[in-house]
Amino acid sequence: MSKENETTISTASRPETNGAGAPSGEETLTVTDNRTGRSYEVPIVDGTVRALDFRAIRVDEDDFGLMTYDPAFMNTAACRSSVTYLDGTNGVLEYRGYPIEQLAERSSYLEVAYLLVHGELPTASQLADWQHQITIHTFVHENIKEFLGGFRHDAHPMGMLLSATGALSTFYPEADDIDDPENRHIQTIRLISKMPTLAAFAYRHAQGQPYVYPDNDLAYSGNFLNMMYKMTELKYEPDPRLERALDVLFILHADHEQNCSTSAVRSVGSAKPDPYSAVAAGIAALYGPLHGGANEAVLRMLRRIKHRDNIPDFVNGVKEGKQRLMGFGHRVYKNYDPRARIIKKAAEDVFEVTGRNPLLDIALELESIALEDDYFIERKLYPNVDFYSGLIYEALGLPVAMFPVMFAIGRTSGWIAQWREMVEDPEQKISRPRQIYTGERARDYIPIDQR
Ligand code: ACO
Repeated sequence: MSKENETTISTASRPETNGAGAPSGEETLTVTDNRTGRSYEVPIVDGTVRALDFRAIRVDEDDFGLMTYDPAFMNTAACRSSVTYLDGTNGVLEYRGYPIEQLAERSSYLEVAYLLVHGELPTASQLADWQHQITIHTFVHENIKEFLGGFRHDAHPMGMLLSATGALSTFYPEADDIDDPENRHIQTIRLISKMPTLAAFAYRHAQGQPYVYPDNDLAYSGNFLNMMYKMTELKYEPDPRLERALDVLFILHADHEQNCSTSAVRSVGSAKPDPYSAVAAGIAALYGPLHGGANEAVLRMLRRIKHRDNIPDFVNGVKEGKQRLMGFGHRVYKNYDPRARIIKKAAEDVFEVTGRNPLLDIALELESIALEDDYFIERKLYPNVDFYSGLIYEALGLPVAMFPVMFAIGRTSGWIAQWREMVEDPEQKISRPRQIYTGERARDYIPIDQR
């Protein structure tokens, strides 16, 4: 390639990177445009090239420039993030650098929420203050109760949670001042503290039972159990084992980097509405069966298998492509989902209290057969977080419609941590993908009587 045909794409407008610095001579990609014969050198930073750098690749002056096409963002990083590290090949999940296994074993959900939001584990006094702040904001305005009362008796609780979260923005109109850090902080507290209240109210509505107000003597998960299950007793006393198992589930679901719902929060949030509206978008994404609904499919599958004797037939059917083994496989994890291992243990703890769910034995056997079978080994299919979580929720007496709601409670801290990171990121702008237009052009309007 001749020298005059080489173009170096400038890095001048790039912000500083996390230690990677400016690309050295070798950290570049040379591409040749065979339409023109020109070559371009594109910087590689942190293992990525910038899509915008390709805009300089043009056939002529009038050319818009080369775009990248990536439906479903299969290979496009949309942000820099220091919240969650995920290595699907090796089954690693870390929040702010702390392994999920250690957090699930030793931390509490609220401590993890603090970690996600602030980036560091709290000191004892910071944690006490954070817990206090969250606890004293658990109540919702009485009008929210009336608002929820307007839903049909059989309304899906996820639809109710979605609407109620969006409605919160009208109760806190000042929340749209998202450039004020103090304002962001109070809305953060409100979102994390009120989500269980809204979720429990949605559940009680479906049951036709009166709403239970938060009990500020109880910890986060214990209070949630109180709002869900308290009947006539004067004081609800949550079983500490169930309370802990629930806390662990919330920890495991707290964040998972740029998944569909988090991307929705970031994308909507990039237009700078208040955080309630952005988080409502996340709930809407999680409502979808491809995201928040797989554990329901696992339960249905286990019920259909019904007995351990039917497992070999079922597995053969999976291998023949007649059905999928639900709760197995993951777009990112090509190894045992670390959350699945922890949830399996939590399930045993819960069943100690509630009695063993016979579906667990089917699940355990199904897992051990699949993990030994070449079909699953070759395709790197391992249990994911949803393989056991539905069994726990069912043991807690939750209807399947509540499963994604439980997910949303835990994920709220991650959504808000990611939203805050986005708001504070000087590189971010309003989200606005490009398209490849495939439709008609410049057609003359035809009056209706001539069509
Ligand atoms: N059972 C049987 N075979 C499977 C399964 C499964 N659960 N998952 C993938 N495969 C097979 C596919 O048939 C394909 O085989 P082939 O190469 O012979 O055609 C191969 O494994 C690759 O599968 P893809 O569909 O390309 O993998 P992808 O990454 O697109 O899908 C997904 C990931 C959607 C999670 C998939 O594994 C699946 O459907 N799992 C069951 C549903 C589930 O548990 N979802 C929860 C995910 S976790 C979450 O969302 C919180």
